[in-house]
Amino acid sequence: MAGVNIREARKTDAKKIFELMQQQAAEQNTVLPSHLTHEVLAEGGWGPAAVVMAFVAERKETHEGELDGYILAHRGYTPWLGRAMYIKDLYVVPACRRLGVATHLCRELMQAAVNMGCNQCDLRLHKENRAAMELFEKLGAENVTESEDWHIFSLDFKSMEMETKYGGRGHPQVRLATSKDMADVMVMIQELADYENMSDAPQINAHTLVTDSPPQGTFFECFVSEIDGELVGYAMFYPTFSRHGIGMCLEDLYVKLDHRGQGLGSALMAQIAQRGVKLGGSHFEFVVLSWNTQSIAFYQNKGATDLTADTGVQLYRFVNTAMRKCVRAFT
Ligand SMILES: CC(C)(COP(=O)(O)OP(=O)(O)OC[C@H]1O[C@@H](n2cnc3c(N)ncnc32)[C@H](O)[C@@H]1OP(=O)(O)O)[C@@H](O)C(=O)NCCC(=O)NCCS
Repeated sequence: MAGVNIREARKTDAKKIFELMQQQAAEQNTVLPSHLTHEVLAEGGWGPAAVVMAFVAERKETHEGELDGYILAHRGYTPWLGRAMYIKDLYVVPACRRLGVATHLCRELMQAAVNMGCNQCDLRLHKENRAAMELFEKLGAENVTESEDWHIFSLDFKSMEMETKYGGRGHPQVRLATSKDMADVMVMIQELADYENMSDAPQINAHTLVTDSPPQGTFFECFVSEIDGELVGYAMFYPTFSRHGIGMCLEDLYVKLDHRGQGLGSALMAQIAQRGVKLGGSHFEFVVLSWNTQSIAFYQNKGATDLTADTGVQLYRFVNTAMRKCVRAFT
C-alpha cells in the first residue's frame, strides 16, 4: 500500500485519533458522548489501567503525524475459548478509502491479537453499514447474529444506580474471585454452557482461567457468590473502551438453580457496576442468545436496551482459523 504507513498507536496520537472520532461522528450525524475527551482516550489507551490496543495509518510523505485512519480495539475474554480481541472502532478518512487502508489496519491488529494468544475476535456493525460489512466479510468474519442468534445489549450504570450504590455492598456473599476459586468457576462455566445447549463449547480449563486472571494475568476478573463455603454463582467481566467511552463487559453471569431469586445475580452485577463507575465508566455491554428469554427479561427489567432488535446492531466474529487466515493473507 504505497504512501501509507501502519503503526501501533502511541499516547501522543490520542488527540489526533480523537479528532478522527469526531470526524466520524459528524459523518454519521451523531455526536460523541460529552464524557469522552482526548484525555479520557489517552488514559484508557495508554494509562496505568490501559485496555486499548490501537493502530494508525499515517501518510509517509507528511512528517507531521497526519493520520488517515485508525483501528481501536481492546482485549477481553471468553469463558469458552479464553483470550479474545474486540474491535471497537475503525475509520478511514474519505479521501483515502478503497485503497486498502482499513484492510491493513485490521490485519496489523489481527497479527497482534494472534501473538497475544487470542482465539476469537468480535466486532459490532450496524446492519446498514454495507461498506464495513463487505470489508469484514471479505476479511473472514461471520455474522453470528444471523447464524447463532446473538443479541447485543447495553445497560447504563445510571439505570441501576440504586443497586450500584447499595446492592453489592449489602450482599456479604459476593466477593472477588481468587485463583483458588477457578476450579469451581470452571464447573459453573460448564453448567452454564450445558444450560445454553452448548455443552461442547468450553475449550479451556481451570488452569487457563488462573493464568489469565489476577494476580497472574489481566484478561478478566470474576466476582463470585459464596454460601456456606460453596460457590453458587459467578460473573466474569473486563473493562471495555469505545466511542461510547469506558464500559464493563459482562461476559458471563450465572447463579445456580437452587439459589436463584435471592438477589445474587443483581448483587454480582452491582459489584461490577461499582468497579465501572470507579474507572469512569458509564455502561455494561453484553450479548445474550435470543431464546434465553428469562435472562433477557432479567436484564430488561434493569433497563437494558436490545441494540440488535432496536437499532439493528449485528455481532460479527472472526474464529481462530479466520484470524490466522486474515494474517496469512497479509504476509
Ligand atoms: C468501512 C471503512 C473503514 C473501509 O475503509 P477502506 O480503507 O476504504 O477499506 P479497504 O480499502 O480496505 O476496503 C477493502 C474491501 O472492503 C470492501 N469495501 C470497502 N468499502 C466499501 C464500500 N464503500 N462499499 C462496498 N464495499 C466496500 C470492498 O470489498 C473492499 O475491497 P475492494 O476495494 O477491492 O473492492 C471506511 O469506509 C470508513 O471509515 N467508513 C466509516 C466508518 C465505519 O463505518 N467504520 C466501521 C465501523 S467499526
